Amino acid sequence: MSTNERGSFSGKLGFVLAAAGSAVGLGNMWRFPYLAAQYGGGIFLLVYLILAVTFGFALMSAEIALGRKTGLSAIGAFKKLNKKYAFIGYLVSVVPIIILPYYCVIGGWVMKYFSVFVSGQVHEAANTSFFGSFVSKPAEPLLWFALFLGITSIVVLFGVEKGIEKVSKVMMPVLVVLSIIIAVYSCFMPGASEGVKYYFIPKIDQFSIKTVLAAMGQLFYSMSLAMGIMITYGSYMKKDVNLESSVRNIEIFDTGIAFIAGLMIVPAVFSTAAAGGENPGELLVSGPSLMFKTLPHVFDIMPGGTIIGALFFLLVIFAALTSSISLMEAVVSIIRDKFGVERKLSCLITLIISIILGVPSSLGNGIWSGITILGMDFLTFFDFASNSIIMPIVALLTCIFIGYIIKPAAIIEEVESSAPFKGKKLFTVVIKYFAPVCIVLILVSSILSQFGIITL
Ligand code: PHE
Repeated sequence: MSTNERGSFSGKLGFVLAAAGSAVGLGNMWRFPYLAAQYGGGIFLLVYLILAVTFGFALMSAEIALGRKTGLSAIGAFKKLNKKYAFIGYLVSVVPIIILPYYCVIGGWVMKYFSVFVSGQVHEAANTSFFGSFVSKPAEPLLWFALFLGITSIVVLFGVEKGIEKVSKVMMPVLVVLSIIIAVYSCFMPGASEGVKYYFIPKIDQFSIKTVLAAMGQLFYSMSLAMGIMITYGSYMKKDVNLESSVRNIEIFDTGIAFIAGLMIVPAVFSTAAAGGENPGELLVSGPSLMFKTLPHVFDIMPGGTIIGALFFLLVIFAALTSSISLMEAVVSIIRDKFGVERKLSCLITLIISIILGVPSSLGNGIWSGITILGMDFLTFFDFASNSIIMPIVALLTCIFIGYIIKPAAIIEEVESSAPFKGKKLFTVVIKYFAPVCIVLILVSSILSQFGIITL
C-alpha cells in the first residue's frame, strides 16, 4: 500500500493533537488524581515528572520512530526490521483488540452520566445504588456502548486527516479549556485549599518504592505505550516533522492534563468532605467508583454542580473518545497493512470483533456476572490481561528489540532525519538499561498485587 493510500497527518499540530488525544484518557481523569493523593502528593508529582521526561520520552520516541521508519503499523513494522521478531508485532496487536471493546463500554457509561447531568438528575445519580443498578441492567448499557463505539467507528472511517485529525483539533482545545474552568472552580470551593495543599505538599515519609512503581505503571498507560498506537500514528507522520519536539509536546499535554485533573478532583472532594463531615480519604478512590459514585456525590453538594458536572462529563467523553479512536485506528491499520484490505472493510471487521468482545464486558456487570475468568468478570479480566500482563511484556520486548537487535542507532537515525536528536544519549541509556529493569518491576508488582500478595 502506498503512503498516500495509508493517509497521513497534515503536519506537526495535527499529529501532536491526535497523539495527545490518545494519551489523555480515562487514566488521567480517574487514576492519576487518586495516585497522587495516595502516594505522597508533591513527591508523587515529582517522581512522575522525572519518569515522564526520561522513561516516557524514550519509549514514546522509540514507538513513533518505529512507525515512521517503516511506514507500517505494529505487525509490519517489527517484521520489516527483522523477520525473526515479527512475533512482537503480533503480540502488540492483541492489546488494542482487547482494550477497544471494554474501553467503549466504559465510554458508554460516561455518555450515560453526561445525559443524566444534562437532564438535571444529579441528585438521583448521587445515590450510592444508582451506578450499580445502571451497569447491571442488560439493555441500557449496551445501547450506550453501541453509541460510543458507533461514533468512534465513524471518525475512524473518515480516515487519518479528515477523521482523526479534524476531531482532535476540535476536541483537544475544548478539553483543555473545560479542564481549566473546572479546576479553577474546584479550587475556590470552601474548604478546597486543604485539598490543594494535600495534592501539592510533598509527604516525604510516604515515599517508597511503591511511589515509583505506581508512577511508572500510570505513566506507561497514560502515554498509550505498548498498545501499537504510537507505532501506527508514527507511520502517518510526515518525514519533515520534528519527531523529538513532537514527543516533548505530547508529554507536556498528557502530564499537564493529568496535573489539572488532580486540581479538578482533589480540592472538590476535600470541600465536599468538609461540608458533610466525611473522611476525604474514603471519598477519594480510583476508577469507576471515583467517576460514577464519588463525583456525582460531589456535584450534588457543589453549588452549580449540575452545570459543572455536565461540563465534566463532556470533558471525559472527549478524553475517552480520542483515546478509543486511537485504539480503533491501531486495529484498523494493522488489518489493512496485514491483509491489504481497504479502510471500510477493515473498520467493519474491527467493529464486529469489538461487538463480540464488548457485549460480555458489559453484561458481565449484570446478568453474566456469574461467569468469571481467574475470579474476574470479563471487563476486569480484559483490563488485567492487557494492562498488567501483555503490555509490560510488549514494552520489554520492544526495548530489547531496539536496544540489542536493531540497535538504538536505527531509531536515532530516523529521529535525526527531521532534526538533530538532542536527547539521544538519554534515549540510548533508557532503552538499553533503565527501561527494561523498570518494566520487569512493573510486571512483577502488578501480578503480585492483583493476586493480593502485595498491596499497591
Ligand atoms: N492513555 C489513555 C489514558 O490515560 C489510555 C488509553 C489510551 C487506553 C488509548 C487505551 C487506549 O486513559
